[in-house]
Amino acid sequence: MSWIREGELTIIERFCANIIKAGPMPQHVAFIMDGNRRYAQKCHVERQQGHSQGFDKLAQTLRWCLNLGIREVTVYAFSIENFKRSKEEVDGLMDLARQKFSRLLEEQCFLNVCFAYTSRHEISNAVREMAWGVEQGLLEPSDVSESLLDKCLYTNNSPDPDLLIRTSGEVRLSDFLLWQTSHSCLVFQSVLWPEYSFWNLCEAILRFQMNYSALQKARDSYLEERRQQEMERDQAYVTMKLQQEGFVSHGDSRRRQTLLQKCTAMREERIQGFLQALKHKRADFLERLCPVSA
Ligand code: IPE
Ligand code: IPE
Ligand code: MG
Repeated sequence: MSWIREGELTIIERFCANIIKAGPMPQHVAFIMDGNRRYAQKCHVERQQGHSQGFDKLAQTLRWCLNLGIREVTVYAFSIENFKRSKEEVDGLMDLARQKFSRLLEEQCFLNVCFAYTSRHEISNAVREMAWGVEQGLLEPSDVSESLLDKCLYTNNSPDPDLLIRTSGEVRLSDFLLWQTSHSCLVFQSVLWPEYSFWNLCEAILRFQMNYSALQKARDSYLEERRQQEMERDQAYVTMKLQQEGFVSHGDSRRRQTLLQKCTAMREERIQGFLQALKHKRADFLERLCPVSA
């Protein structure tokens, strides 16, 4: 039987899910699943038991998300900092991850797992990749932009999360999706992760809905500003070209228009070439890391 799909919502849960679904729903939800060890201490069970129940809670939460029509979920399962915990705890978490995630992946669900992850590592890696692109002659330094950095992150195939939830009462991000959550609704809940309930999820979604129009406004105005900045950058480049060609200050408007179109098309071509090369570079790296036996 499927680990995620087993069991449906109770009648009252289904009723409330339908009410919530009448409002704007987050399409992508991220979780910082925190509080496993405090839960184990509270229930007088082994620490590993707390972590194991934490993984099981993830399967249950994914089922609720499916029922609520949430299309994508990203979870912080293990940070690079977590390697500093005792060897026994790290080994135990690795064992659980191997068992539980292989089961979840069989479900082919909509889950992104951030494991041995920190956001600052992800961002600095993206910056290094862009520097590599310039060094290889695939990119011009002026191609480096926020939108290109977006495309170099590990999350490049996903939209930014609409809602980020952290459990256990801690009110920090602990280096999780720092770039991607600047316009997300952040909800901090005091419940320990293994005790997370359908009602906690509903409460977080209600908070998202209450802030929906402000979030949309902030996101839209950021995107508009970014578009403006890119246009101004292209205009400045064209002005420089025209000056090099000996045109006076604003130059001929037809020539300006042609140059602008050419500049945008060439930039797009360079970026596509770079992203393709980056894809191969990452595939080669993964292949060296875990070679597929012939
Ligand atoms: C989160 O719970 C799980 C991982 C970090 C792997 P913790 O293990 O951080 O538990 P608390 O926060 O110490 O209770
Ligand atoms: C963050 O939780 C990482 C995960 C939930 C996987 P931590 O418990 O490790 O974070 P800090 O150390 O309290 O910030
Ligand atoms: Mg913790």
